[in-house]
Amino acid sequence: MENHYGMLQQLLCFLAIFLTVSVAFGGGGKFDSSLLRSVVDKNMNQPKADAWSYTCIEDTTGPSHWAELSVDYSLCSSGKAQSPISIESFNLKVDESLPPLDLTYDNSADYVNATVLNDGHAVKIIREGGSLVFRGVNYSLTEFHLHTPSEHTVDGKSYPMEMHLTHVSDSGAIAIVGAFFELSANDNSKLNQYFPLFPHLKVGQPVHDVISKIIATPKDMFTYYVYEGSLSEPPCTENVLYTIIKQVYSLSPRQVMWLQEAVYGHNNRPIQPLNARTVYTTKYFKK
Ligand SMILES: *[C@@H]1O[C@H](CO)[C@@H](O)[C@H](O)[C@H]1NC(C)=O
Ligand SMILES: *[C@@H]1O[C@H](CO)[C@@H](O)[C@H](O)[C@H]1NC(C)=O
Ligand SMILES: [Zn+2]
Repeated sequence: MENHYGMLQQLLCFLAIFLTVSVAFGGGGKFDSSLLRSVVDKNMNQPKADAWSYTCIEDTTGPSHWAELSVDYSLCSSGKAQSPISIESFNLKVDESLPPLDLTYDNSADYVNATVLNDGHAVKIIREGGSLVFRGVNYSLTEFHLHTPSEHTVDGKSYPMEMHLTHVSDSGAIAIVGAFFELSANDNSKLNQYFPLFPHLKVGQPVHDVISKIIATPKDMFTYYVYEGSLSEPPCTENVLYTIIKQVYSLSPRQVMWLQEAVYGHNNRPIQPLNARTVYTTKYFKK
């Protein structure tokens, strides 16, 4: 079983690279293939900030090896409630008691002092000024970061980007709000508050004083998926509440490319087994 699962992970890992490549080429044909090759090569050769990576070809630091890299990472293989997962319509359970997502992001200030950091695994935008209230618990925004391609899939569909907004409660409980982005011809102008910086970021060197307004708005909050998962990177900590917004946002091919350059091509953990979990959705859900 263990071996089969490892093989499945390898397969999904190749698939992720394929998707990354096809996103780069599929989105309007504006990409230069030599640029793409340099992105893929970087994924293989660049030293990383920590020992783990998303690399899956001839590498011992990739997702199927995370648990071997540190005793602190053991949940990455032994956990039974790991993220990401594949969200399947046929498997969703409608929970009529789910209210609209109670998200508040403070976009009132013209100037938000956010810090942008490439930690070698993801680009993080570190800023406060947001909260998620869910089942009576108030979780505060600590940062949001970006995965390319998406980590979660919906009915087998992968998106070129998934944003994870990380919120933590006073008692340390973690809630991640996820949002998918698909390709469109034009830039998402809100992402251009910080995306053009990405190719210039040096790993581990934060850039301060970046304006960063959050793009999710309350009108989007009526349909979402919810399940109990984990951090999708080491140490793969469990008991993380995921709420994933069903509305899909957009970004342009060059915006995906900037992100790919920063994360050496791709930074999505392969899909994890659902095991005994249920994925719920709001009653407003429409296919
Ligand atoms: C949640 O916490 C934030 C800041 O920590 C606060 O501004 C907000 O009013 C709180 N919301 C509720 C419903 O308690
Ligand atoms: C923004 O935050 C960073 C890090 O917290 C700090 O170094 C910088 O001085 C701040 N800038 C302003 C204008 O507050
Ligand atoms: Zn994430």
